[in-house]
Amino acid sequence: MRRSKKKRRIFKNNKLRIIKAKKRALKEEKLPEEEEGVNPLVKKYWRQRYDLFRRYDEGIRLDEEGWFSVTPEEIAVRHALRCAGSGAGVVIDCFAGVGGNAIQFARVCNHVIAIDIDPKKIVLAMNNAKIYGVQDRIDFIVGDFFQLAPSLKGDVVFLSPPWGGPSYKTIKKFSLDLLKPKDGHSLFQVAQAITPNIIMFLPRNVDLLEVDQLSWLSSPPLDIEIEGNVVRGNLKGITVYFGDIAITQPCFPQILSS
Ligand SMILES: C[S@@+](CC[C@H](N)C(=O)[O-])C[C@H]1O[C@@H](n2cnc3c(N)ncnc32)[C@H](O)[C@@H]1O
Repeated sequence: MRRSKKKRRIFKNNKLRIIKAKKRALKEEKLPEEEEGVNPLVKKYWRQRYDLFRRYDEGIRLDEEGWFSVTPEEIAVRHALRCAGSGAGVVIDCFAGVGGNAIQFARVCNHVIAIDIDPKKIVLAMNNAKIYGVQDRIDFIVGDFFQLAPSLKGDVVFLSPPWGGPSYKTIKKFSLDLLKPKDGHSLFQVAQAITPNIIMFLPRNVDLLEVDQLSWLSSPPLDIEIEGNVVRGNLKGITVYFGDIAITQPCFPQILSS
C-alpha cells in the first residue's frame, strides 16, 4: 500500500532530523585527553582519523605535522595498487612521514625504502607499520632524500614532499616552486636519476601546466598521467604518474569514494 502524503512528509522530516543530529554529534565529538591541547587545526583532521588510517583505533600514532600531511588511506591504497599493477618490486618513499603511503606500498609490493629527515616521523611510521603487520617489508631510513638519492635503487620513486602546511589551500595556483624543501623541478630531476617511473602526490590547486612541463625534462618526454583524488566528495590532491606507470588514457577526476 502507498504511504499517504502526510506520512511521507513525516518520514522525510524524521530522516532529515537524524542526519542533522548525526552531523552535530560529529562536530561536537571531543578529542581524547592525550590529544587535547594540540593545535586546534589537528581537531579537524582527528575527525577524519578513519579516512587517514582505517585501523586508527589499534594504536596508530601521529604528530602535529603528520595529522595534516598524511595521505588518506584510500588514496595511498590506490598509489600502491598502481605500483603493484606495474610490477614494481621496490618502491622508494622519499618523504615517508608517519607511513601513510609506505604501509600501503608494503602491503602489495615486495619491498619499500621509507625515508624521512625527521627521526620522530620514522619512529611513528615504524609503530604504524607494525599495526598493519608490514614492518618487515620496509627499510626505514632517517636522512635527507637529496643526500641519499645517488645511492638509491628502486623500480618506482614516490614523492610526497611537504606542501608548506595547510595554508597551501589559500593559494589560487600552487606553483611547483612552493614545494619544500626544494622546488618541484629540482626534486623531479633528482628522482629521475634513480628511475623514470615516478609518482608525485601534489596539492589539488597545483599548476597543471608546470606539472606537464616536468615530463619534458626527459628526452624523449616521459609518459604522464594526471589523476584527481577525491575522498567523500572532496578533492584531496592530485597524483601524477610518470614513465611506465602512467596510463595515457585520460582518467581525471578519479572518484575514489562517494
Ligand atoms: C607530506 S609529508 C609525507 C606524508 C606521507 N606520505 C604519509 O602519508 O605519511 C612530508 C614529509 O617529508 C619530510 N621531509 C622534509 N624534508 C625532507 C628531506 N629533505 N628528506 C626526507 N624527508 C623530508 C617531512 O619530515 C615530512 O614528514
